[in-house]
Amino acid sequence: MSQPDPDPLLSRPRRLRRGSVLRDLVSETRLDASRLVMPHFVLPDERTVEPIPSMPGISRTGREALLRTVASDLELGLRSVLLFGLAGDGRKDPTGSLARDTESAVPQAVAALEREFGADLLVITDVCLCATTDHGHCGVLDGGDVANDATLPLLAEMAVIHAEAGADMVAPSDMMDGRVAAIRAALDARGLEQTGLLSYSVKYASAYYGPFRDAADCAPGEGDRKTYQMDVRNAREAEREALLDEAEGADMLMVKPALAYLDIIRRVREVTRLPVAAYNVSGEYSAVKAAAERGWLDEPAVVRENLLAMARAGADVILTYHAREALAGAWL
Ligand code: PBG
Ligand code: ZN
Repeated sequence: MSQPDPDPLLSRPRRLRRGSVLRDLVSETRLDASRLVMPHFVLPDERTVEPIPSMPGISRTGREALLRTVASDLELGLRSVLLFGLAGDGRKDPTGSLARDTESAVPQAVAALEREFGADLLVITDVCLCATTDHGHCGVLDGGDVANDATLPLLAEMAVIHAEAGADMVAPSDMMDGRVAAIRAALDARGLEQTGLLSYSVKYASAYYGPFRDAADCAPGEGDRKTYQMDVRNAREAEREALLDEAEGADMLMVKPALAYLDIIRRVREVTRLPVAAYNVSGEYSAVKAAAERGWLDEPAVVRENLLAMARAGADVILTYHAREALAGAWL
């Protein structure tokens, strides 16, 4: 494999770049709509559509608007969604009770999507407490600490509610230890063994989540997420987290963010047999949007290059806010 060409002086790599038909024929990475997942910020009402200033092109939507958007996305071939539930006017509290309310945004939206689109749409739900806790952390607090084991049953209950509403997969994003096993056990105990589990296995304490925290109003009031999300300096630890989640019963593993972590996507791809997903997060999206608005970057070309980079690094699945525009404009 790593032998040089027999006679380097006669070698002409450019011969394979002559014309787009030949380039397409020999391209090593392919990306199409079936690998993309579109994230949605869901409000617990019917009609609201609230554009998110720091994420041009993305809105918080009530159920009716969500159904409309998803219907038109399906026509583009975009068949998978990730739902984030927002508190809306609902009351936040220390344990994020809203997340365990069957009348809240996500279970209601999941049921509506299920009724409307059935098996044509794959519905994945984000499972975490931070959008519904008054302190904004991803788990419950004990003193100043985010308490690991006390958080697990709350996440498990939230996942069960999403699954019972009809979610195809649940995706815990909290980074508590042992949550994959806890959620899997709770699902199985309720007869929900068909519900899949996509773990945010390798989630870094990243500054790239800024626009999302505006969108979901989930920035921690005090402190940061560094006692549960991963240290930006670590790569070996990513393999450890990935293998733990595989052992605990995850069906798919995610690396997040994507672009500053292409090395991690590659490493995780090499240590697991599960599908690997990459989350092209809010800050990565907004940075491209902002530069494109100023005319500093060619948005279609940069988005294509970024998404291809994630696929080339080893991502089987890509979650991206660019999905709709990339497909509508045939950017890939
Ligand atoms: C919450 C959550 C976050 C994201 C997904 N789920 C924010 C955070 O952990 O602070 C980030 C997504 C994005 O930036 O697009 N657990
Ligand atoms: Zn969270």
